Amino acid sequence: MRKSELIIDHIKDIPGLEMSLLPTPVHRLNNLSDRLKADIYCKRDDLTAFAFGGNKTRKLDYLVKDALVNGYDSLITFGAVQSNWCRITSIAGKVNGLDVFLVLEGIKPEKDTANLLLDKLAGADISFINSLERDDIIRQVEIKKQELEKAGRKPYYMPVGGSVAIGSVGYIRAMAEILEFSENSDVYFKNIIVASGSAGTQAGLVAGQVISGWKGSITGMAVSRARYEQEQNVFE
Ligand SMILES: Cc1ncc(COP(=O)(O)O)c(C=O)c1O
Repeated sequence: MRKSELIIDHIKDIPGLEMSLLPTPVHRLNNLSDRLKADIYCKRDDLTAFAFGGNKTRKLDYLVKDALVNGYDSLITFGAVQSNWCRITSIAGKVNGLDVFLVLEGIKPEKDTANLLLDKLAGADISFINSLERDDIIRQVEIKKQELEKAGRKPYYMPVGGSVAIGSVGYIRAMAEILEFSENSDVYFKNIIVASGSAGTQAGLVAGQVISGWKGSITGMAVSRARYEQEQNVFE
């Protein structure tokens, strides 16, 4: 069995939606490659298309399906005022018939712009918390979730970035796409370098590596934490 097939076989029974437009293309970055005297390619996960695309659509394919299969009636999550994650969640909830509750970190802006405007157009219920402390925010989300449950609702909680095991399945699948690209061309990758924030993207790729036995290296560039802390997050 090819390495990509090993991965697909491993996750085939995990139900997911097909919101993301996959596979995303892989482009050679000619100017950067010439300049650095290396062969550098970019997996264009900005082109997942759904709700203006980005890496979070892959996670939401599995998270929203999990919510639907398990009878949840809404999604609840949090993020920055201009969070891409919250934008895609708002739209994914809307098209799948789930109400969306967002707790946004920071002061309510005077004017709704960009992602905040899109969250509202998608009908998300938004509350603001004037704190950037993670504990305060998580407490606020928990209060909102309990209120909803008391009112008879069944909200599906997702941490920021959708970085829980089920969300990371989206990036296990991405690893299969990367390997399949190599299997269908003469381009073999030695290193994958990925931005690592809420950690689910890197964790999914690493899980795909473990399943397939791919011999290259995966390097996460931590965007918001020290290396040690981020490594723990990825392993968890
Ligand atoms: C393009 C891109 N790659 C990777 C990441 C990091 O993903 P994660 O939050 O799963 O670590 C982000 C985070 O927003 C991103 O926008």
